Amino acid sequence: MDGNGRWALQRGLPRLAGHRAGTENLRRIITASVEFGIKYLTIYAFSTENWGRPREEVEGLMRILEDVIDRELGELHKEGVQLRHIGRLERLDPAIQEKVLAAIDLTRNNNRLILSVAFNYGGRDEIVCAIQKMIRDGVKAEEVNDELVSRYLFTAGVPDPDLIIRTSGELRVSNFLIWQAAYSEWYITPTYWPDFDKEEYRKALEAYARRDRRYGGLSDSTKD
Ligand code: FPP
Repeated sequence: MDGNGRWALQRGLPRLAGHRAGTENLRRIITASVEFGIKYLTIYAFSTENWGRPREEVEGLMRILEDVIDRELGELHKEGVQLRHIGRLERLDPAIQEKVLAAIDLTRNNNRLILSVAFNYGGRDEIVCAIQKMIRDGVKAEEVNDELVSRYLFTAGVPDPDLIIRTSGELRVSNFLIWQAAYSEWYITPTYWPDFDKEEYRKALEAYARRDRRYGGLSDSTKD
């Protein structure tokens, strides 16, 4: 959800106003996802590197997470959205941790849209965590393969992303789903996240539909 800060700056507003506008947009994108028949949506809300931002901004983002759960959980549940969290909860305020866990528990049987929220998430951290867990579980070297690693990641049970959308024109991976994105298609748009509306979303999905996914092989039309 990149570009919130620049969106706010353009309007002479504080960065947090951009994050609030970004949160409003998230609601639109969730609704559109259900409409478009998207089954899995993952949003990158707070990275392990975002702790390095000014204290005011970090605290503001934590407050937004809390407010969103307070305000939107009932509606999300009613709409059949299952909430998942990827990342480490430990460093968050205990009251927020509890809210996140309660939201996950409440929505665990929903299946219209599986919404994974990456909060205090880093792709490298996720891999480190998975290796630690494997060692603790006594996994043998010969048992380690792609499928096992996937099962040890925060995203266990969620398919690898088909499409990753990055707003605000940045051409970086930024530690997002680095294992899972091995064969994901990327869509980069200069639009700032608060302005990435349903029509932009549709354009991204249409662009995806035109891609020829080869997974390192050859497409049917070029095989013979
Ligand atoms: C990136 O834009 C955005 C973030 C680091 C925060 C996004 C978080 C929210 C919208 C809060 C909502 C969270 C939940 C779970 C509801 P940026 O600040 O890097 O923008 P810039 O690149 O223009 O400075």
